[in-house]
Amino acid sequence: MQLGTPLSASATRLLLLGAGELGKELLIAAQRLGVETIAVDRYADAPAMQVAHRSHVLDMTDPEAILAIVKHERPHYVVPEIEAIATSALAEIEAKGLATVVPSARAVQLTMDREGIRRLAAEELGLPTSPYRFAGTLAELEDAAAALGFPCVIKPVMSSSGKGQSVVRGAAELALAWQEAQTAGRVGGQRIIVEGFVDFDFEITLLTVRSAFGTTFCAPVGHRQEAGDYVESWQPQPMSDTALREAEKMAQRVTDNLGGRGLYGVEFFVRGTEVIFSELSPRPHDTGLVTLASQRQSEFDLHLRAILGLPVEPGFRRPAASAVVRGKRLGWGPVYSGLEVALAVPESDLRLFGKPTASKLRRLGVGIACADNVEEARERARRIAAAVGISPAP
Ligand SMILES: Nc1ncnc2c1ncn2[C@@H]1O[C@H](COP(=O)(O)OP(=O)(O)OP(=O)(O)O)[C@@H](O)[C@H]1O
Ligand SMILES: [Mg+2]
Repeated sequence: MQLGTPLSASATRLLLLGAGELGKELLIAAQRLGVETIAVDRYADAPAMQVAHRSHVLDMTDPEAILAIVKHERPHYVVPEIEAIATSALAEIEAKGLATVVPSARAVQLTMDREGIRRLAAEELGLPTSPYRFAGTLAELEDAAAALGFPCVIKPVMSSSGKGQSVVRGAAELALAWQEAQTAGRVGGQRIIVEGFVDFDFEITLLTVRSAFGTTFCAPVGHRQEAGDYVESWQPQPMSDTALREAEKMAQRVTDNLGGRGLYGVEFFVRGTEVIFSELSPRPHDTGLVTLASQRQSEFDLHLRAILGLPVEPGFRRPAASAVVRGKRLGWGPVYSGLEVALAVPESDLRLFGKPTASKLRRLGVGIACADNVEEARERARRIAAAVGISPAP
């Protein structure tokens, strides 16, 4: 394995599709190894663009636009960072050998659509999941909910971060949930998944790395979500050895099937001795931001190393937690204050993503802290996030 010199004829080039905070950390890891980085997103000055050698603004749902930029930049690796990408272009890039798609075009395509990954996990691989049905009309939704019972969870098949998602407690709420899924999903007029509500004890993300040398697991990341969006995470989540082995076995099976090299974030619900597969990201996971402090190699280092064919070793160091800093209202060029207080918290760290605009509930940063135990780390991370003030530009 060889790496060239950036901005020269020998450069190893990585093109990132989606330039958010997770991509920013990946590109920082890439910069440290002298990889030439190109960031793409649909808006200018996105977080990862600010640390890339070059950037481009384009509509990533347009396959022609993606193909054109790949032909122009000639990257060795194309790394999707978000789900809303024209996957037909990725398949063509892979088929024509234009670049390595990370982890693979099929993995990206199957996971961008909840129906693809759910049918693979539950029906092909036989993994335990919540009971589910798909629906394309309100009438089908009513049938599905009647079959599954209440409460049930409704999600557009193409959506992330809880967008368009609702928990429905009775038949009277179905019409509103249907409307919500239609308007808030990534594309309008789409199918939804209806899932039986799982009353779990806790949920985890099992960061699973497929490198050239085999599969490696990180310690389980616990997290808490509000309205389907992550608000805090910690590592390690205490759990029984049996449950952890069970989760690792399932993660291995599904990631072996999806193939390629890179890090996957595999989500599970744990209820008593039961481990239930939920979904997975074929890329670093937002809840895995905690690994910036808890591991010697963060999920971003691990993803990069796996992509490049290098050895990986998470190297768990110390219990840690992350707590999200969210916007309070719409504003351009937000100003952050309270940082002296935030960073006076012991063993604290902070990421401000540099997003050009703030909006209500938008993730703008994350407080991270280590401690002797997870409880204390969570308390510290929450204190950091709470201390950060956000105001509109003067
Ligand atoms: N069937 C279910 N039963 C109980 N809770 C659920 C169920 N499905 C989802 N949730 C809750 O909603 C959260 C988000 O769901 P899911 O991961 O499917 O959506 P998402 O939009 O892809 O979220 P993200 O992009 O943040 O991973 C889960 O982490 C869990 O807390
Ligand atoms: Mg999820």
